[in-house]
Amino acid sequence: MRVVIKPSAVAVADFVANTLINGVREQVFKTLGLATGSTPLPVYQRLVDAYRENRISFADVSTFNLDEYLGLPASHLQSYRYFMDQHLFSQTDFNRDNTFVPDGMSTDPIHSCEDYEQEIRRRGGIDVQLLGIGRNGHIGFNEPGSSLASRTRVKTLTEQTIRDNARFFKPDEMQPHLALTMGIGTILDAKHILLLACGDGKAGALKQMLEGPVSSHCPASALQFHSDVCVVADEAAAAKLEQRDFYLHVEKEHQQFIARYYT
Ligand code: F6R
Repeated sequence: MRVVIKPSAVAVADFVANTLINGVREQVFKTLGLATGSTPLPVYQRLVDAYRENRISFADVSTFNLDEYLGLPASHLQSYRYFMDQHLFSQTDFNRDNTFVPDGMSTDPIHSCEDYEQEIRRRGGIDVQLLGIGRNGHIGFNEPGSSLASRTRVKTLTEQTIRDNARFFKPDEMQPHLALTMGIGTILDAKHILLLACGDGKAGALKQMLEGPVSSHCPASALQFHSDVCVVADEAAAAKLEQRDFYLHVEKEHQQFIARYYT
């Protein structure tokens, strides 16, 4: 895995946004897998800025979001469809018909999940999957104990995830305990994976994911099986990594290698 350690969350967002912008412009990234939560927000802001400055068009790009709360309509302020519309889709030229988020209001969630998988396949698979990481090592809403071969399905959220996300809900608001999420197997099918981790709250999970054993106790550790993962972390999230200095060294060598042979 490539591990890129940046001095700040701002530098993480710059790096990830530039990677996405270059990939979309070069038409390597035609189908994006997207995440919600607080970590990717500055990345989406940079994509919006690039669109406004005429540096990019998303008109021919399709997107698939990782997850959605079961029971929340797209109009609900905390639904992930609403989040994506608000922070990215409505501010750029994405064709809404090409943006997919699992249907939180489905009356047949099991079939909706199968349809979601089919739609991903129909569009040729995901070129690049953006991921955050939960403090318990979850990716998407694949909580600890999730099958490492899982596909899109309904999952029960852990108490910790419910607590971590409670900040987004009003005290008297119903917070769902179930979600629809791409599976770990679905995520591993993406051609490239970009995982972002910022802040000291993520340091333990990042260490487990990168330097611990592959285990369903840390769902993100399954990414060790993927051949093209780039983990982009700020110093706070990287603070517990035993190999921190080595990752910095490898990245420096990588940049020199690219400069020498490919520019
Ligand atoms: C959201 C998602 C989650 C988040 C994770 C981190 O679509 O898939 O796995 O990426 O919970 O959330 P933040 O970024 O809010 O710390």
